[in-house]
Amino acid sequence: MDLAYINDFSVRLGLPFDSDRVPQHVAIVMDGNGRWAKQRGQERNVGHRRGVEALENVVIGCRKLGVRYLTVYAFSTENWSRPKAEISTLMSLLSEFADKKLARLKANQVRVQVIGDFAGLPMLQRLALRRLLDETANEQELVLNLALNYGGRADILQAVKQAALQLAPDKLQAMTEADFAGFLQTAGQPDPDLLIRTSGELRLSNFLLWQLAYAEFYFTDTLWPDFDEAELFRAICAYQKRSRRFGAVVEV
Ligand code: FPP
Repeated sequence: MDLAYINDFSVRLGLPFDSDRVPQHVAIVMDGNGRWAKQRGQERNVGHRRGVEALENVVIGCRKLGVRYLTVYAFSTENWSRPKAEISTLMSLLSEFADKKLARLKANQVRVQVIGDFAGLPMLQRLALRRLLDETANEQELVLNLALNYGGRADILQAVKQAALQLAPDKLQAMTEADFAGFLQTAGQPDPDLLIRTSGELRLSNFLLWQLAYAEFYFTDTLWPDFDEAELFRAICAYQKRSRRFGAVVEV
C-alpha cells in the first residue's frame, strides 16, 4: 500500500479513501476494446493493444492501493469464436505481455497465475506464460490471475470431476462449500470482493460463477482502454460505500 499515492488521488478526485476497507480481491471484465478503436476509426486490434496498457496501469494501481488479488478476464472459452485474425492478435499480445512486462511485474512484486484451460492455449503462448509464472512465483504483494481460455462453468465442472476422482464416497458426501472451493482454479484465494465491468455491459459472461457469489458489482460506461488508475480509485471508493451483509441483517 502506497499512502502518498492514495492521498494524492484522494485529494485530486475529492474522494475519501478508507485504507482499512480495501477489497482484498478485485475481478475485472475488461470490455470495450473493439468499440474504443471503432470510435477512433481504427482496427479492433488497436483497441486490444491499448487494453493491455490499461491492464498494466491497473495492476500497478491495485498494488499501490493494497489490493492483494486481481483476476482479469483476458480470454474466455467463447472468445475462440472471434475472427481468426483477432484471435491471433490477442494471442500475440499475450506472449508480448508475458515477455515484455515480466521485469516490471517482478519489480512490483506481482505473482502471475493463470486460471482456465492452459493446455488449450497455443504452444508459443504456453511457453511465454510458463516463464512468466515461474519467474514471478515467489512474489508476494499482488497475485494477478490471468483468466485465459477460462469459463466459469468449465471451472465448476472440472472441480466436480476432481472432487469425485479424489474423494472417497463418504468424504464426498461430507464435502463443504469451502472444501469444494479448494478444487476450483482459484483454490486458496479469497473470493472477489468487487467485480468491475467496463463499457456499460451488464452481464457476468461466464466469469467466476462460483467465486462471485457475494461480490459487489461495479459497472461503468468507460471503455476498457480508458480505464485508468483514477477510474480504479473511483471504483474502490464506490465499493467502500457499500454495506456488505452476506445475506444477514446489519443494525443501523
Ligand atoms: C473485450 O473487448 C476484451 C477482450 C475480449 C479481451 C481482453 C483483452 C485485453 C484487455 C488485452 C489482452 C490481455 C492480455 C493479458 C494480453 P471487446 O473486444 O469485446 O470490445 P467490444 O465489446 O467493444 O467489441
